Amino acid sequence: MVSGERRPTLPCLVVCPPGLEDVVIAELDDLGVRARRTGKGSLLADLTTRQLYAANLFLRSATRVLVRVDRFTVRSFADLERQVRAVDWAPWIGPEDRPRVRVTTRHSKLWHDGAVAERFTSVLGPGSKEGREQLIVVRAVDDRFTVSVDSSGAPLHERGWRQATARAPLRESVAAALLTAARWDPTTPLVDPFCGSGTIAIEAALRATGAAPAGQRDLAFRSWPGFEPGTWASVTADANRRVSEAGEAPPIVAADRDTGAIESARSNAQRAGVEDLIEWRRVPIADLGPLAGSQAGIGLLATNPPWGGRVSGGDLRNLYATLGRVAAQRFAGWSLGVLVADRSLARQVRPGLTEALDLEVGGRRAWFLTGRVG
Ligand SMILES: C[S@@+](CC[C@H](N)C(=O)[O-])C[C@H]1O[C@@H](n2cnc3c(N)ncnc32)[C@H](O)[C@@H]1O
Repeated sequence: MVSGERRPTLPCLVVCPPGLEDVVIAELDDLGVRARRTGKGSLLADLTTRQLYAANLFLRSATRVLVRVDRFTVRSFADLERQVRAVDWAPWIGPEDRPRVRVTTRHSKLWHDGAVAERFTSVLGPGSKEGREQLIVVRAVDDRFTVSVDSSGAPLHERGWRQATARAPLRESVAAALLTAARWDPTTPLVDPFCGSGTIAIEAALRATGAAPAGQRDLAFRSWPGFEPGTWASVTADANRRVSEAGEAPPIVAADRDTGAIESARSNAQRAGVEDLIEWRRVPIADLGPLAGSQAGIGLLATNPPWGGRVSGGDLRNLYATLGRVAAQRFAGWSLGVLVADRSLARQVRPGLTEALDLEVGGRRAWFLTGRVG
């Protein structure tokens, strides 16, 4: 590149779970990208092709990255069709590919989502049965249409390794965000006493090894007609460098009282290639012992305790209080992060925790509270 020459950028929308916007802004910042919030669960950023590839490979807390390919104002189907024909689709979708058009409209003359989607498929053609699916996202507000192509494919939290789930599993992207929000240093110990399917511990182990979160899965842009293999090779070389530069993983403990939970967590960890980096303990919280041989006062207890269901009322309060007691007795001086749906229950763990994240989990409002064990 000639010095001073700026690489062309693509206007992109980075989608994430509501409440994780700041975490994703920080992750993009690490990739050299400045992003700004545009609404709940979405950020705008201008990305070079390399940054687009890197965002898909390295972002831990995002859901997908959309590339905006056009914007126009239309009030009739004839005009819509003309505009759709005028888009240069060649870099994004091949003749065999099957377009899947997702439409949302608000305050627009063309309000029928299905009829809008039909205009796109009639211009683009149905593709072939063997062709891959390409998601196209169309949003119309006050007759102003924004047309984007999805660069990710399956949501980015689907890393590929989690096939077994215990009850109420967290999205991998949310688990990763908890670690970031608790400011976990990946060279220090981590314990999850209510590990369920192991999501927090596995995300931690992957981070400690420097593994790219999407390293095991496919990404939609790799099948685009305009895919740049050379650019991708340089991004994957970066991913390999991160792995080779990562230090030794710290002690990571995943515990649960439920045998089935530990089994599914272990099989997930095996698929992720980190089973041996995690110490598995099938114990109720009351019996969770301290970490052998680690430096006193350094580590993170990060967890997503039960929110109700089988355990409720006074039992739930007791469970949270037990977590607080075990933390104080066996993890003194550690950092603490608890994901709760009821902030008054969190006070049973420890008073004075601060809100690090205010998010939605499985359609419910939840808070991630952090602090220090006394
Ligand atoms: C909300 S789930 C954790 C989900 C996990 N974050 C995931 O991504 O799969 C809570 C877990 O706490 C476990 N649990 C409930 N009571 C417990 C206790 N007294 N001691 C240890 N684990 C317990 C349950 O078996 C369940 O797996």
